Amino acid sequence: MTGHGPGDQGGARTQPDLSVDLCGVRLATPVLAASGCFGFGREMAGWVDLAALGGIVTKSVSLEPRRGRPTPRTAETPSGMLNAIGLQNPGVEAFCAGDLRLLAEAGATVIVSLVGRTPEEFGRLAARLAGEPGVALLELNLSCPNVEHRGEVFATDPAAAAQVVRAVKAATATPVLAKLTADVTDLVAVARAVTDAGADGLTLINTLLGMAVDVRARRPRLAAVTGGLSGPAIRPVAVRCVWQVAQALPGVPIVGTGGVLTPDDAAELLLVGATAVAVGTGNFINPGAVAEVADGLGRYLAAAGVGSPAELPALFKAER
Ligand SMILES: Cc1cc2nc3c(=O)[nH]c(=O)nc-3n(C[C@H](O)[C@H](O)[C@H](O)COP(=O)(O)O)c2cc1C
Repeated sequence: MTGHGPGDQGGARTQPDLSVDLCGVRLATPVLAASGCFGFGREMAGWVDLAALGGIVTKSVSLEPRRGRPTPRTAETPSGMLNAIGLQNPGVEAFCAGDLRLLAEAGATVIVSLVGRTPEEFGRLAARLAGEPGVALLELNLSCPNVEHRGEVFATDPAAAAQVVRAVKAATATPVLAKLTADVTDLVAVARAVTDAGADGLTLINTLLGMAVDVRARRPRLAAVTGGLSGPAIRPVAVRCVWQVAQALPGVPIVGTGGVLTPDDAAELLLVGATAVAVGTGNFINPGAVAEVADGLGRYLAAAGVGSPAELPALFKAER
């Protein structure tokens, strides 16, 4: 969509231009598919025009294939779901030969999510992908255990998270998003550590750690006992996180993620400072959600008289 020129007749309202710049990469719209919620894109190719989406964040890819966790891996909760998939994926070699090629051929803007057990593994993954055409950005899934530090999740430790970013930046020129968790006391400290280490942008937030019990069977609903909570239930947490980090680190691009189902949900995250948003759980409810949220966002911008999503934060009134 491009704006009408000044010579347009008939007082037609200017059409907003939905495209945004994310870490130097032009996205057709600010609405992405979130990691793990769109498969590797192949599953969705028959449903949606992958090239028309803002971008697709792939399921997290590791060096070696991973089988994932035992079932049940998901459980419904009010306004959301719990999952403990266990980062099942075919490994980076199979990914590059298969799904990545397909996504690139389909013209999709591809953001590859990486997951490793050590900073060095993240670095090796980044180096492997550096030579692959069709990778627009990398996203680091830092919500995974650091085997060199008692299994502590990288994103809960500013120093460990920064170490991963440094390893990746040393291995690639592709822009890097660090994906953080809200399961910390001081999110801004982690955000500052990873951006100081060279992260080009942030994705906020991953799922929140939760648990549900089947009270009839008197046992956990998930085989892994605990799992990640996602969906509308976590949206207020995501909005708070984006707002807090945008205030503290102005100018750092943020992909707001958490409970986006509708155009208004996306607008909420953009108003408080996100550059783009990603739709996760919403895809399970409606496989067309990413495109529909983008279309609706265009209408929202037009109704607000705004030409671009990038103008929204300036319209946010910080006080009630
Ligand atoms: C089934 C499922 C699988 C997910 N897999 C990944 C993953 O592989 N890597 C990752 O970084 N995030 C993963 N996520 C987290 C989402 O990308 C997203 O950050 C989170 O679900 C919040 O967004 P939502 O409320 O729109 O789902 C997964 C979420 C779900 C529900």
